[in-house]
Amino acid sequence: MSATRTYEDVLLALAEADERVLVVTAENRAAIRNLPPKLGGRFIDVGICEQTMIGMSAGLALRGRVPVVHALATFLTLRAYEFIRDDVGIAKLPVKLVGYVPGFLSDGNGPTHQAVDDIAVMRAIPGMHIVCPADGAELVDALPAIVASPAPTYVRCNVRPSALVHTPFVLGKAETLTPGNDVAVLAAGLLVPSAVEACTALAAEGIGARLVNLRTLSPVDEAAILDAARTCRVLVTVEDHLLVGGIYSIVAEVLVRNRVSVPVVPMGLDGRYFKPARLPDVLECEGFSVGKLTERFRRALAEHGSKRPVAATPSRAAASTTNGKRKPDGYPDIAASDALYARAVGLIPSATQTLAKGVGQHVRGVAPKFLQSGQGARVVDVDGNEYLDLTMAVGPLVLGYREPAVDAAIAAQLAQGITFSLPHPLEVEVAELVREVVPGAENVRFGKNGCDVTTAAVRLARAFTGRDKVLCCGYHGWHDWYIGVTDRDRGVPKDVAALTYTVPYNDLAAVADAIDDQTACVILEPVTFEQPKDGFLAGLKKLCAERGVLLIFDEMWTGFRLALGGAQERFGVTADLACFSKAVANGMPISLLTGRADVMKLLEKDVFFFSTFGGETLSLAAARATLGELRDRQVPAALERLGTQLRDQLNQLTESAGVPFVRCVGYGCRTLVTFAAQGLAAGADPLVMKSFVQQELIKRGFLWAGFHNLSAAHTADDVKALLAAYAEVLPLLRTALEQKKLAESLRGAPVEAVFRRTTNFNVKPKPAVAATPGKDGNGART
Ligand SMILES: Cc1ncc(COP(=O)(O)O)c(C=O)c1O
Repeated sequence: MSATRTYEDVLLALAEADERVLVVTAENRAAIRNLPPKLGGRFIDVGICEQTMIGMSAGLALRGRVPVVHALATFLTLRAYEFIRDDVGIAKLPVKLVGYVPGFLSDGNGPTHQAVDDIAVMRAIPGMHIVCPADGAELVDALPAIVASPAPTYVRCNVRPSALVHTPFVLGKAETLTPGNDVAVLAAGLLVPSAVEACTALAAEGIGARLVNLRTLSPVDEAAILDAARTCRVLVTVEDHLLVGGIYSIVAEVLVRNRVSVPVVPMGLDGRYFKPARLPDVLECEGFSVGKLTERFRRALAEHGSKRPVAATPSRAAASTTNGKRKPDGYPDIAASDALYARAVGLIPSATQTLAKGVGQHVRGVAPKFLQSGQGARVVDVDGNEYLDLTMAVGPLVLGYREPAVDAAIAAQLAQGITFSLPHPLEVEVAELVREVVPGAENVRFGKNGCDVTTAAVRLARAFTGRDKVLCCGYHGWHDWYIGVTDRDRGVPKDVAALTYTVPYNDLAAVADAIDDQTACVILEPVTFEQPKDGFLAGLKKLCAERGVLLIFDEMWTGFRLALGGAQERFGVTADLACFSKAVANGMPISLLTGRADVMKLLEKDVFFFSTFGGETLSLAAARATLGELRDRQVPAALERLGTQLRDQLNQLTESAGVPFVRCVGYGCRTLVTFAAQGLAAGADPLVMKSFVQQELIKRGFLWAGFHNLSAAHTADDVKALLAAYAEVLPLLRTALEQKKLAESLRGAPVEAVFRRTTNFNVKPKPAVAATPGKDGNGART
């Protein structure tokens, strides 16, 4: 991606953009020799006093700086180990350690300067990230993420050029450089280019050799390792490192922890150092030249792989979104989906557990009805069709499917047990973590679904205020207190429904009018797609405080997305209680009730909120890992950037395609496409327009239900591909409207509105004119 930019170009650009970045060295200037005049006082060369660099950098990091420290890998990882461990590692400071000439790159240095144990020692420091670029381009691509991460990081510096074309760098994610299911080669760093050439040579012989460039060894992409183990005959690890503590050890640990059995052939330095010489000679002599690697991989397969059948699972290496079964007209074949649906009908009412995932939200006959697997931002349906997922399980998958760090945390906890007879330490740990990142979270309790905690919050508010009425704005779950106020209210006693009223968003005067001396709380999503105006949230807080009413934020969608601390952090307004779920644990079921200690104290005795699975540990382990990843990788900021770009470029496209009545709205992390019956679309049904766009996007490999629920796994290239698809689909929409053939262009029944009316239920005070049915094409809530 960044072949023309050098390491020092990118470092300079990062330093210019962020004055916290400092460059530190002890006369090791090989890759940074042009920086001193440009960085001035932010280039610190300590001369021969290498020892001072680590402690000094830790001190600078404590004062908010981000030091990027350059030294020989041997010095950094061995001589300075104790300083790194004590000053940087234990304090988890964002010091970036760039180790020159690690592994075989220390070709002329003699054994005493060989850093062939550096991964082992750095891995011993909890929380230390380890990045091993395969070439200069990958290093350059990785640098912004490394500098942006708050984690201490060790970089095995490798500025060598290569012909490889990489996918964008994501910390903790491997990339697959060559496909195949016979032998899987797991490598990182300097040896990757030769290993790719060897795999390519084997492919010419008909041997499928999958090259997995692990890229980061801590955190390592466990899912990629496990996928290789489950789908290939034999694994080979390739490293310019001792077999102890490096890639071989890491892979072995992952396999043992997950109880996966597969032959593994290690290729590295087996209990000895290498003979110093020129790099090409070292590679030849140690068996890592292209020719030697080709022969060694072939032998590994012959000796260890013949007895193991290749798994039937399709490789998930393909980045294409159009593979799988397609009918001749290009729409996916969904025969297996339809067959499963036929079995579900009459057995599972609605044939779904989540309304937004059901057939009513997807064009019948076109959209898949059942998904089988997911990886990153991609899903595969039961017919084998792959899609880029823009729904992401209706919110939870903020990091993406099979996120290695989260899956590893779940697997590690699974090995210890799932649900226990007494509380588990994770309950305390996760509560502490939540208190750290969520404003106002003086107390924390756990539930399973969003509606558990919105319901607990409402009950608490009623108990605390001694009042019964609830004002709400938005969707809050299926329980009586809320759903009774909508038009899907059968089974809810009228007396319960009569206690809840809806109020309009951004209308402080209306809320003030609606509050009376029986109002217990105002519960609302702090923001959905419309921005809060004129200090609405702060005004609401003041109003509630003045009238003795509790303010509850329903942060199911905003939590951990809009900012790490959700809408409360983003808008600087803290509610009395705040409820979270969805993104907390990247797909595991858990919800959080947080808020004022004096209110939450009622949960000690007076207010009952207990459940069998509230302390289930797989979800808690997933929550701990997810929150750590969201924080370390600064995911909310990345979602904001990518999503804003998508929204703005899509709006330009709708203008240029002549369909300006199609708009993309919302904050970057979650945007919505709206369809208004205006202009050319006057008289058209917005739900039919939405269905048409869905149908055509599905044909092009995008699973779309009107929203862009972005995750950390969505890349700039994904957004580019999606915009390219919109650029094809929007003119088709225009033509269908012009020719008045929209409805007949649909290949199946259109999507439905979730509620016949979506707002203005039981409004307080009563409106003068009855509300009209909402049919805005804005789709499902849950
Ligand atoms: C804003 C909001 N609140 C509450 C809920 C209810 O959450 P759950 O479906 O997990 O009970 C949802 C579900 O989509 C939601 O979007």
